[in-house]
Amino acid sequence: MTDKLSVEQRGLRESATFDRNTIAAIQRAAQTGIYDIRGWGAKRALPHFDDLLFLGASMSRYPLEGYREKCGTDVVLGARNAKYPLHLDTPVTIAGMSFGALSAGAKEALGRGASEVGTSTTTGDGGMTPEERGQSKHLVYQYLPSRYGMNPDDLRKADAIEVVLGQGAKPGGGGMLLGQKISERVAGMRTLPEGIDQRSACRHPDWTGPDDLAIKINELREITDWEKPIYVKVGATRTYFDVKLAVHSGADVVVVDGMQGGTAATQDVFIEHVGIPTLAAIPQAVQALQELGVHRQVQLIVSGGIRNGADVAKAMALGADAVAIGTAALIALGDNDPRYAEEYEKIGSAAGFYDDFQDGKDPAGITTQDPELAARFDPVDGGRRLANFLRVMTMEAQTIARACGKAHLQHLEPEDLVAISIEAAAMARVPLAGTSWIPGAGL
Ligand SMILES: Cc1cc2nc3c(=O)[nH]c(=O)nc-3n(C[C@H](O)[C@H](O)[C@H](O)COP(=O)(O)O)c2cc1C
Repeated sequence: MTDKLSVEQRGLRESATFDRNTIAAIQRAAQTGIYDIRGWGAKRALPHFDDLLFLGASMSRYPLEGYREKCGTDVVLGARNAKYPLHLDTPVTIAGMSFGALSAGAKEALGRGASEVGTSTTTGDGGMTPEERGQSKHLVYQYLPSRYGMNPDDLRKADAIEVVLGQGAKPGGGGMLLGQKISERVAGMRTLPEGIDQRSACRHPDWTGPDDLAIKINELREITDWEKPIYVKVGATRTYFDVKLAVHSGADVVVVDGMQGGTAATQDVFIEHVGIPTLAAIPQAVQALQELGVHRQVQLIVSGGIRNGADVAKAMALGADAVAIGTAALIALGDNDPRYAEEYEKIGSAAGFYDDFQDGKDPAGITTQDPELAARFDPVDGGRRLANFLRVMTMEAQTIARACGKAHLQHLEPEDLVAISIEAAAMARVPLAGTSWIPGAGL
């Protein structure tokens, strides 16, 4: 009789400290003696863009007419030093995701989708594939601590260079690509053996601080003839100081990736316990840029948990020039698609929960190097889906901007926002809704 009743109906009380997930984690650790590795970003609830709301126009502000009045979405990235800055039609860009983590078809699809809407995509740890270069109108080339796949010819083929110092999912940590995903092609590009786990460096081998970074950035400019914008990407931790140092080192664009940011693989404990939320990082970055007098001259790209046009508009209202998406782009391609529900269950997961990107068993053929699984993924169809999603995000952001009376997404400002929790108000430095109170302001 009792086994038909749910645990709640039976009056059983779940511990908030030792909840079901915690118990399962302890049991798993006790059984295996190995820490848990997974992909995706932080899964715990954190103050986020959902804790902010826009103050649409009414009497004291004047809205724009949706169908008749223009609301610009374009952005120029990297005009500070580069001969050829990037001109994008939408501020929603595709974040760096490695070939190795993703299949070659998925990389190609990212290029197709991004190019269709006039935005950029980014390589990743492991180098540039001809498919993604071929399909990407604007391709940013990552220069990482591991130097996997690093090749001066590819640097010259890129449209911009992103020096990666860290990622929001694992600030202070290096990449991880397990043996099951090191196919012959992946191994060849990284000049490492096939089928062996790769843990890439967390520090660049040839510098110990910002002075060395300035020298490195100059070297990269010299070998690419000062043509390409140079980005510096940091995981969000001491963001105010990191952004100041990145600017002093010569960055044209600073990328700040908050702790909700996705990864292909790292320790769960790392994803959930290191870094600061995206929301907390943006005002710090903007403050640093403003104090240096370079806000809007050195562009700020924000990533980490961006899912829709409202998130885009909120990040921009807080002072970002553009955003980057990883996880949402993979979902748009077909990751976690319910059509593979049965197969997710066979590998111990479920559609909407799948995060074992490190295993390379992705039924959707996206986070895998298995030729049979990868063949299921159609780059043309995936690219189309991504382009649709990017269009929707851009139109959603435009809708909000118009409602706030703004003729360009970049005209959104903190004054358009309020917070619905004290934490979010303090982190985002906007007032709690219905008050003029910004907790911590003036400290
Ligand atoms: C599958 C996957 C692979 C990634 N690979 C890289 C990488 O090679 N280099 C890098 O800097 N960041 C990498 N990232 C992080 C993204 O560039 C980006 O910072 C993050 O995904 C943004 O957060 P979001 O996923 O919530 O949009 C990866 C993320 C994912 C999901």
